[in-house]
Amino acid sequence: MTADSTATGTPYGTIPPASPLPQRKPISLPRLAQMRAAGDKITMLTAYDATFAAVADAAGVETILVGDSLGMVCQGLPSTVGVTLETMAYHTASVARGLRRAQGTAWVVADLPYGSYQESREQAMRSATALMQAGAHMVKLEGGGWTAPTVRFLVERGIPVCAHLGLTPQTVHALGGYRVQGRGDAAAAELRRHALELQDAGAAMLVLEMVPAQLSAELTQALAHCHTIGIGAGNGTAGQVLVLHDMLGMNLGKMPKFVRNFMHDAGSVRGAMQAYVRAVKDGSFPDNALHAW
Ligand code: KIV
Repeated sequence: MTADSTATGTPYGTIPPASPLPQRKPISLPRLAQMRAAGDKITMLTAYDATFAAVADAAGVETILVGDSLGMVCQGLPSTVGVTLETMAYHTASVARGLRRAQGTAWVVADLPYGSYQESREQAMRSATALMQAGAHMVKLEGGGWTAPTVRFLVERGIPVCAHLGLTPQTVHALGGYRVQGRGDAAAAELRRHALELQDAGAAMLVLEMVPAQLSAELTQALAHCHTIGIGAGNGTAGQVLVLHDMLGMNLGKMPKFVRNFMHDAGSVRGAMQAYVRAVKDGSFPDNALHAW
């Protein structure tokens, strides 16, 4: 029997067979903490549908982000600002179904979209509930210390939270564009303060986007209970994330400096994802000389 003959699905596309990874247990918060303690880098990749999620899982990716970047890469929007909660729930459910059918073990993080958590902690709880019921294991929200009471409220009610600092795409207009954050002593000190407030509120993960490598490495050391996941933030973080379409070389615009096209030398999407996992684990991606500020 070939591997493909074990795949499930219709003739229009099949969900890959169960992950060939030897006895990988479902990824959980304790498992992520063990990985961190062992110096095993955490890999994260965005996925927005059943098949890509299952392929990423089979390639060894530990955490899948249903990012609101889907607004750009799936919906053709100019930014993430127009993404709705309903859309996020739809894509989260698709990813969760794909993983279930493939008997995948990845941890699913879903973005709370713009406007779904800023009003009140209760609004955030309602929005997070919708994403958890769609199949997420954790929700992600953007912003500094002002989000800490919301993070605490969700965590106390059993919802794991990933925070997001540095370049926060939902507020790109206020930030004046997609530019590096945390440069200079004052900005770095502010970012450090926000990160500690978010850890103190119970955030178990923190995406650091477009932050100087030295600062994100320093934050990683300072945050013992909150795993930093970098994107354009150097190689000193506890893990890395990339947007799927970018790492597959499908970005039709200007490729950000922090991205590597893993499809270039790979014969398949799964091969590209496996190369990404290998490169993050062995520390060759990101290369601070090429992909960091
Ligand atoms: O929405 C997204 O894909 C993200 C990543 C850029 C981290 O938030």
